[in-house]
Amino acid sequence: MITSGQPKVLLGVTGGIAAYKSVEILRGLQRNGVDVRVVMTAAATQFVGPLTFETLSGHPVHLDSQWLRSDSGIAHVEEGREADLLLIAPATANTLAKMAQGIADNLLTTTYLAFSGPVLVAPAMNANMWSHPATQQNLALLEKRGVVVVQPDEGELACGVYGAGRMAEPDGIVAEVKLRLQVESKSDLRGLRVLVTAGGTQEPIDAVRYIGNRSSGKMGFSLARAAHDRGAEVDLVHSNVKLPKVPGVRQVEASTADDVYREVMARLPEVDVLIMAAAVADYRVGRNVDGKMAKKRERLTIQLEPTADVLCEVAALEGGRFVVGFAAEFGLEGLERARGKLERKNLDMIVFNDISRSDIGFNVDENEVVILTPDGEVEVARTGKEVVAERILDEVARALRRRRKAGVPA
Ligand code: CTP
Repeated sequence: MITSGQPKVLLGVTGGIAAYKSVEILRGLQRNGVDVRVVMTAAATQFVGPLTFETLSGHPVHLDSQWLRSDSGIAHVEEGREADLLLIAPATANTLAKMAQGIADNLLTTTYLAFSGPVLVAPAMNANMWSHPATQQNLALLEKRGVVVVQPDEGELACGVYGAGRMAEPDGIVAEVKLRLQVESKSDLRGLRVLVTAGGTQEPIDAVRYIGNRSSGKMGFSLARAAHDRGAEVDLVHSNVKLPKVPGVRQVEASTADDVYREVMARLPEVDVLIMAAAVADYRVGRNVDGKMAKKRERLTIQLEPTADVLCEVAALEGGRFVVGFAAEFGLEGLERARGKLERKNLDMIVFNDISRSDIGFNVDENEVVILTPDGEVEVARTGKEVVAERILDEVARALRRRRKAGVPA
């Protein structure tokens, strides 16, 4: 059982078509607050690029090429020492055979031999390979030594054959890992209504043009999903995003700053926590043109007028709801401005991120933030937005607990 800190899982990915599903496993584990590091075999990199796992996990991916370099240290021992559990998904017949026989001819199989914690494997292979006595005997041997086998499903396999051998679904594998780690899904937001805004507004100039920004909505979507997983009833007001729907979350589109204002205000009476992750325009076009504006040779002036500051207005209202803002600032000096905003706008929390950096924040999968509250600051080092979302909600839940203790209704 993980009693303190963030549980750590080492995810081994071997060369099967199911390797693309390992991405979903990684994200599923992260949503449950697990820190995931990845080891890939050479064959696995033929199916999914290491950069995908590196970007989503927020850590370098371990590959055979580094293992064989003399300056890479003893990665197989180091990673094994750090991890609470080793999960190999997909596990090919070849890797399972090597594990059963103690063959250590690549970084993953070496790591397995050097690892002393719990091991889970999720086999994936062709139906004939699966039912072959060699594979079944290898699995029986591994099970006898304590390796947990997440049984594959029956279904249509990549080779076109119907039968057993398709890797178990990511959700099931994540559930097995949680069971072994005794990671409880957090339910610290149960009973609360959370409203999240995400994406970037577009302010029309005419029928085809607009003033917009580069926000992708990924941070807000991660927050909505994480809040839902932690038991909250979640509404997500999104602006111009290209992201899949979040199961269990009520979603509504709000394209402009005015739309965001209207949709947020309409839901506000019921809301306990408002998280304004959207990049909402500070200005709208004063008088937009019907149809398409024709080109002229002279200079063009577009008059802009301020939009309502949703965050400011909500924070000024009575009702005791918990209000979280985002401060997308340019450069580290922005941290000071974010501190100022927290106070000036009377917020309960502000999440600062530095948008001068291209590796975090806008339109990428990773972020690095500082979470500011009137009581202190928490730095979250560069990691996937899913993990950043969990950290932000940890702080929201902590602040709400403090409030309740102090007798302030949430
Ligand atoms: N925001 C909002 N309504 C707007 C504009 C922004 O609620 N019309 C929210 C954003 O969702 C974000 C926060 O305000 O959570 C910070 O926005 P930012 O643009 O960084 O702050 P500004 O309002 O521009 O800050 P300043 O007052 O310093 O100009």
